[in-house]
Amino acid sequence: METIKTSDYQALQIYLRDACGILLRDAARGLAQRQLRSVLDNYQLASIEDLLERLGKPGRSGLKEAVIDAVTMSESRWFGETSVFALLAELVLPDIARRAPGKRVSIWSAACTTGQEPYSIAMVVNEFRDKNPGSVAGTRILATDTSRSALEVARRAHYEIGPDEAGVTAERKERFFRPVDKGVWRVRPDIRSLVEFRELNLLQRTLPGKFDVVVCQNTLVYYSAEKRKAILARFHAALNPGGYLIPGSSELADDMPELYEIIECPNGTAYRKK
Ligand SMILES: C[S@@+](CC[C@H](N)C(=O)[O-])C[C@H]1O[C@@H](n2cnc3c(N)ncnc32)[C@H](O)[C@@H]1O
Repeated sequence: METIKTSDYQALQIYLRDACGILLRDAARGLAQRQLRSVLDNYQLASIEDLLERLGKPGRSGLKEAVIDAVTMSESRWFGETSVFALLAELVLPDIARRAPGKRVSIWSAACTTGQEPYSIAMVVNEFRDKNPGSVAGTRILATDTSRSALEVARRAHYEIGPDEAGVTAERKERFFRPVDKGVWRVRPDIRSLVEFRELNLLQRTLPGKFDVVVCQNTLVYYSAEKRKAILARFHAALNPGGYLIPGSSELADDMPELYEIIECPNGTAYRKK
């Protein structure tokens, strides 16, 4: 694929903003170009100009969704943003255990991509439970995303784990994974059974249930202020009283301070439903 022309990139930015509420930054041009290459190949389109033309026609058969997937998807990492997992282990789980000892904690991983985030959460809850017997009874995690292909990978739970995945220590590998092939590991069934994967678009009004914790990292950043506000309001509605929203550092939950008690910790900021 040739380099995207400035005028085509601007047209793509306008399409994504107006049709999907997605903000494609100027600086993301190179990345968008790489991510869209397979969409062009799959739909036999020669250029972004052709893509925009096809998006304007009826009967697009998933093309719009494929474009959204491509521009909002980036690799997910095990124990991604350290602050999210530290907040969970050091603030949120201890508080829930104090308020309701022995409770089963329900958690929503709201844009789970290929599963690393919800499985990491399940592992952290298990570690917490082992260190604090009687604190929580375990967890049930709902992991949602719009991307069907990402959810398929997540359900399969086979991953290449290289030495750069610092969060997956030798101890965690031993405890939570079993080797499948050279460098390939599968999440063990006891962890897999804690996570249910479901297709869900955060822009739609459906609430998938009530939760003690909602985790959303590296996703809202793609959306306009208006869409972000609507999604954050949905997270608020999905939380049990006193439940926690744990956003990634780019998720800007400060958009609605009146709805949450803001808890600043050395490891990041958590938001407790008022
Ligand atoms: C960068 S990934 C974040 C992955 C994960 N939360 C993490 O930090 O490791 C963004 C994910 O958001 C998903 N996504 C984007 N818009 C969405 C929407 N409207 N509803 C649900 N998921 C969405 C994409 O499919 C993609 O999997």
